[in-house]
Amino acid sequence: MFPSPHHSLGCIHHLIRDYPIPTGLLAALGGLTLARFAFTATCVFLQTFVLPGINLARFGARKGAWAVVTGATDGIGREFASQLAKAGFNVLIISRNEEKLSVVASEIAGKYNIQTKTHAIDFAKPTEKSWEVLGSIISGIEVGVLVNNVGRSHDIPVYFTETPQDEIDSILTININSTLRVTQIVLPSLLARKKGLILNIGSFAGAVPSPMLATYSGSKAFLSTWSQALAEELKSRGITVQLINTFFVVSAMSKIRKPTLSTPLPNAYVRSVLSHIGSPCGALGRPYIATPYWAHSLIDWVLGQIGLAGLYISYTHSLQKSIRARALRRRAREAESTKQAE
Ligand SMILES: NC(=O)c1ccc[n+]([C@@H]2O[C@H](COP(=O)([O-])OP(=O)(O)OC[C@H]3O[C@@H](n4cnc5c(N)ncnc54)[C@H](OP(=O)(O)O)[C@@H]3O)[C@@H](O)[C@H]2O)c1
Repeated sequence: MFPSPHHSLGCIHHLIRDYPIPTGLLAALGGLTLARFAFTATCVFLQTFVLPGINLARFGARKGAWAVVTGATDGIGREFASQLAKAGFNVLIISRNEEKLSVVASEIAGKYNIQTKTHAIDFAKPTEKSWEVLGSIISGIEVGVLVNNVGRSHDIPVYFTETPQDEIDSILTININSTLRVTQIVLPSLLARKKGLILNIGSFAGAVPSPMLATYSGSKAFLSTWSQALAEELKSRGITVQLINTFFVVSAMSKIRKPTLSTPLPNAYVRSVLSHIGSPCGALGRPYIATPYWAHSLIDWVLGQIGLAGLYISYTHSLQKSIRARALRRRAREAESTKQAE
């Protein structure tokens, strides 16, 4: 038997009459919580779907400024280079392979009326000479935008104890050491102009600890904290720094080939990043972090509202276990077909 609505209202009435102060305080607390929820939901909605971000002209678009993009021959980085060129920046693109760089540079230069430069460097094993060459290229241009995009994850999900040492070294050197070095080389040019933009491409794996991707996850968490500290240091000097929190995007790294609502193509993903500069969107409340792509924004915000961190970690663990099992089956199939071909 459930109490009738009339009976429940009667109980509430008695509670208010007998305990006016505690019930009043509870009602005020509930009202405040609801108002806060409604306010943040409205902000996230407006920032994600309605309000434009900072105009790229502020950072020198169509005024001769350069955009420097790392990891720019494929996936998200290639799109950043292309869309920043379309917005009117000259572009310096950096990756490992000189031939791929030339192809991308001439494709971009053929489409947009801007200049391009390339620099080949292996961010996993950079030499002092390669940093010097980058430094001399940067000293000859005015940089308006730096996109620290290059990143490496584990080949397949793997427990930390079984992760090969060279994979750990490579992830840390690319994602952390090289990103910091590039930023130190480029920053003087941004500071000289007293305005500039640094976008560091982060990952949900940096926000939600990801078992079986522990080193990658930790490296992206490093980038997140470092970006926030750097952003505060540089704010008064005219430089905007943002960590772009990224969920899945179709690319070679994600090994996802088909876009879905929550997994966009790099094109749509980068368009949303560049049109929301300065807005946190789904990362509202975490200074200098942004989750601009609409589906990622909603996921980020909802996860933050629910707040069950332990559950996300164990869900990620089971997800990565099944991804590893699939990857191992694929490897076995490939090994079998190579054996048959021989
Ligand atoms: N895709 C996703 O679902 C996803 C999700 C979260 C975060 N992210 C982040 O987004 C960023 C870009 O990822 P993506 O998916 O676009 O990757 P991607 O498609 O695999 O492209 C990686 C780019 O980096 C370059 N690169 C790789 N290793 C390099 C090295 N050692 N030295 C120099 N360049 C190197 C590659 O060019 P070469 O091979 O020609 O050198 C390529 O241009 C990464 O920081 C990643 O962590 C991606």
